[in-house]
Amino acid sequence: MNLSELKREIQSFKISSKEELESFRIHFLGSKGIIKQKYAELKTVPNLQKKEFGQEINLLRKLAEERHDLLKPQLSKTAFPKTEQIDLSMPGNPINIGSHHPLSIVRKEIIELFSTIGFNVSEGPEIEDDWHNFSALNFPKEHPARDMQDTFFINKSADEIALRTHTSSVQVRVMENSSPPIRTISPGRVYRNEAISARAHCFFHQVEGLYIDKGVSFADLKQTLLYFAQELFGSKTKIRLRPSYFPFTEPSAEVDISCTICSAKGCSVCKYTGWLEILGCGMVDPNVLDSCGIDSNVFSGFAFGMGIERIAQLKYKVSDLRFYSENDIRFLDQFKSAL
Ligand code: DAH
Repeated sequence: MNLSELKREIQSFKISSKEELESFRIHFLGSKGIIKQKYAELKTVPNLQKKEFGQEINLLRKLAEERHDLLKPQLSKTAFPKTEQIDLSMPGNPINIGSHHPLSIVRKEIIELFSTIGFNVSEGPEIEDDWHNFSALNFPKEHPARDMQDTFFINKSADEIALRTHTSSVQVRVMENSSPPIRTISPGRVYRNEAISARAHCFFHQVEGLYIDKGVSFADLKQTLLYFAQELFGSKTKIRLRPSYFPFTEPSAEVDISCTICSAKGCSVCKYTGWLEILGCGMVDPNVLDSCGIDSNVFSGFAFGMGIERIAQLKYKVSDLRFYSENDIRFLDQFKSAL
């Protein structure tokens, strides 16, 4: 092939894909390509023509290189060669949808079932003063019951500001700011200075309940708690009240439900008793009513308080409290269909 034929061939070589461009490169510019061969032929060209022949090959090499470099960026942009084009009939990649946190699910359920019987929702601050967290709730200063609460103090000054240790502080705020009849529940986060383990944490969540009106009795409390337990854990659930002590209620009780895991037959979760403790409750102590501006000669009421983690633990068999705050997707994903 003479050099002018070669020039025409370089110019007319069909290049419409990445593959054809590569064939072009190998054919003309590759280490065994035509241009290399032409340079090799240079040795056999008579001396007088050597210079001209050499210059012409140089020009042809340049021509081939320019054509290659011009087409390369355009053709490499073809991200989807024909055989790999997108198939629009294929299902798309699913978007990973989040889930509600188990504590949010349980809190929502509790709010809903109490709102059905006329309770509204109230909230208070997590940074609380001594009055709302303790004194108004009938914890005298230096009373040993304060030690039960492992308080995180923010400031040991006159006001003794602390992270609230329970949501009972919200009942004080509600009583101070409204008048009976009061029917409210107060969900929220509380803090205690405890070492973190499977069974204890330095923060957790509670729901407080409060009902104040004329003639509210212990029977009302019992029936309300039975309704709550059966709505949340099923209509066969039984409750049991054991006498207890809280400074802000008199009389006070702790409430157990029949074990939801073994149907009260006895298992490791209920420690073979058939019962699970779920909350504390009682009739609001007259001292508390009076401290909050409600006449205890006219009104009476009941209160109760429960841990949301504990309820979620029983509903979903969560074995370690730390799971709730670690945000491990493998844990959270299990609640995708729970709401
Ligand atoms: N505040 C208590 C606690 O954190 C729980 C509690 C017990 C709340 C009895 C109440 C109640 O309202 O009546 O341990």
